[in-house]
Amino acid sequence: MFHYLWLLMGLRSLAMGALHPPQPEVMTPLVAAALEILAEQVSPSQSTLAVMDLTQDAEHRDDRQEQLMNIILRSVGSEMALRTFQKPPAEVPASFVVFLVNSAEAFNTLGFHFTDFHSTREFNFLILLTRRMSSRAERLEVLRDISRTCVRFHTSNVILITEKRDGVVLVYAYSLLNMDCDLSVSLELIDIYENGLFRHGHEARSFNRGLSLSGCPLQVSWYPLAPFVSFIGNSSDPEERAQTWRLTGIDGELIKLLASIFHFRILLEEPCDKCLSHDIKDDCSGCFDQVIFSNSSILIGAMSG
Ligand SMILES: *[C@@H]1O[C@H](CO)[C@@H](O)[C@H](O)[C@H]1NC(C)=O
Ligand SMILES: *[C@@H]1O[C@H](CO)[C@@H](O)[C@H](O)[C@H]1NC(C)=O
Repeated sequence: MFHYLWLLMGLRSLAMGALHPPQPEVMTPLVAAALEILAEQVSPSQSTLAVMDLTQDAEHRDDRQEQLMNIILRSVGSEMALRTFQKPPAEVPASFVVFLVNSAEAFNTLGFHFTDFHSTREFNFLILLTRRMSSRAERLEVLRDISRTCVRFHTSNVILITEKRDGVVLVYAYSLLNMDCDLSVSLELIDIYENGLFRHGHEARSFNRGLSLSGCPLQVSWYPLAPFVSFIGNSSDPEERAQTWRLTGIDGELIKLLASIFHFRILLEEPCDKCLSHDIKDDCSGCFDQVIFSNSSILIGAMSG
């Protein structure tokens, strides 16, 4: 196993330590919670951990943040391969990234370009909002803003943590669909760290908590073709189509399984034909057109042949 380490800032603080007597570094609840999450979620052999210290104004370092970064490096550095950054890199550097940010603007300075190569990788962000916000509304506003940036990066494995003035650490995640299924970002408080303990087991704050579509309805277009898709009953009858047990066959069973895993409801359209385009006026209801015109989200029934 390789243990390599880039200690850009660590060296800098060592040099400064030679001039001033070293300040005892206090392990704040925020850092203690972050270290615990890293210890349980990132295996040392899994990857290199990137640690990014981003402030809104890169010229003026945030002393408190710099101290937090030092503690993280010292605590994690002997366990794991690390890369550290004090300004945004052009590309996402590792699968696991810890961000220290004091504002949404600091996080928004990131401008990754996802290439085809990146789209095959999955990223996990642990974001420490280091500034203590004066109100809950302000805190949620900043975290929502950061979450929206994560959505732009196509990253959903995100844990956001922040410390309140009373030392309680709040652990958030975001989901893309809220109860109204309107595709907005909603924040979810997934755990609380208080007096050195999390309230829940580590599954609650795992990076990959899975996608939930919160019971949202998804239109399903289908081309009846056994053994892929069959319908038991009268598929022209809307009442019968609402009874999803009637949908069967390989694709039919698969879509029902996916619906139970990702919590979406199946709204089965009337059966459609494999038409190529609506331009060809041949009275064909057109499965592909239904998807192209966003009348449905899913198409089943051996459509590739
Ligand atoms: C199937 O359902 C449709 C719509 O309810 C109805 O018009 C039609 O008569 C039904 N066909 C049969 C064979 O029952
Ligand atoms: C899509 O839905 C609209 C509105 O319900 C309808 O007018 C249109 O014909 C549908 N298109 C296809 C391809 O099904």
